[in-house]
Amino acid sequence: MNARSAPTPTHRRIGVLTAGGDCPGLNAVIRGVVKSANQLGYDVVGFLKGYEGLVDPVRYLTLNHKSTTGILNQGGTILGSTNKGRFAATVGVDDRLEIDPELLEGVQTTVEQLDLAGLVCIGGDGSLAVAQQFHEFGIPVVGVPKTIDNDLSATAFTFGFHSAVACATDALDRLHTTAASHDRVMVLEVMGRHAGWIALYSAIAGGGDVILIPEIPWTFEHVCQQILERDNMGKKFTLVVVAEGAELPDGGLVTREAEQAGRQTRLGGVGTYVADEIERRLQRETRVVVLGHLQRGGPPTTFDRVLATQFGAHAVRLIVEKRFGEMVCYHPPAINSVPIIEAVNELSRVCPDASAVQAARALGISFGDSHTSNSPFAVRPAGDKPKLMNL
Ligand code: F6P
Repeated sequence: MNARSAPTPTHRRIGVLTAGGDCPGLNAVIRGVVKSANQLGYDVVGFLKGYEGLVDPVRYLTLNHKSTTGILNQGGTILGSTNKGRFAATVGVDDRLEIDPELLEGVQTTVEQLDLAGLVCIGGDGSLAVAQQFHEFGIPVVGVPKTIDNDLSATAFTFGFHSAVACATDALDRLHTTAASHDRVMVLEVMGRHAGWIALYSAIAGGGDVILIPEIPWTFEHVCQQILERDNMGKKFTLVVVAEGAELPDGGLVTREAEQAGRQTRLGGVGTYVADEIERRLQRETRVVVLGHLQRGGPPTTFDRVLATQFGAHAVRLIVEKRFGEMVCYHPPAINSVPIIEAVNELSRVCPDASAVQAARALGISFGDSHTSNSPFAVRPAGDKPKLMNL
């Protein structure tokens, strides 16, 4: 921010919180908020355990250079977080779950009592839907898009995604050598909820042979065909990467528990299902690895540290400029902002025609569907000019 646009603060404090599931880079955002706010003469308070810390009993820490020293590369969040509790919200015309107005009043009171110029809410789609309802209630809030799933629209990347992909890629590197040594089929189940971003990117980076994602319908016949074709080429092992939200050929989702009101269904188990079925059909030794929360823990990658730091600094700028109800976003190479509502109204999912999908097909990677590697490139409609991205 240049000196000209920095007004003298009237409210002397900014609040920050981390909500929903954790992910690598949360501490880097917190540090970015604290350092840039302090530079502009604002103090920062960090609320504990997500939105819960905002209301009775209000719990917060004063954050300064001392409390944020050394956290840039630390996983998790020094403020704690939760994806349970009293704050559950959705927005959207047909699917709106309202926050209890008493809770909203409680948040408003906390903001007034602490004389906050604004509140930085770092969260994924559910948490940002809460932030959107704060905004509609008149609470001065800005959002920062967090999730390993990369499923928030209105930003090319969320922070945390790159780190999760790095973790899954490392797992594939390791599975590769053991699969090759034993002529086995290895199935790696990765997170991502109803989007296949982690599966797609990690499989490309880690040399996966089959990618099963929610966005592309697949069949066991095609998966098995790929394994047999590799056998014929003398490659007696196969790496299958399956997204936890990949629907089975009959349309079913494999979940860990029944749906609960106000809480997202816990996905998981599709990897085992796929491995068992491959073994049954081909009589081939098949093993499954469920990567789980390893993808969410540990230090952020350098890319995520840079992205998270920029997001933190830009969120402070939005508060200083009173651009409440906006969420920072990344459209390479620029950090910018959009109304929060734009990010939460529609999830970002892999386009079956995306260049990364096309590249994977061009390399002979199967998506478990009927495409062959002889015709990997979809025809781009006339007038649909490719978007140039300066990455
Ligand atoms: O949204 C992030 C995410 O890690 C998903 O990929 C996964 O389905 C879910 O959270 C797991 O949530 P929990 O930590 O509640 O098991």
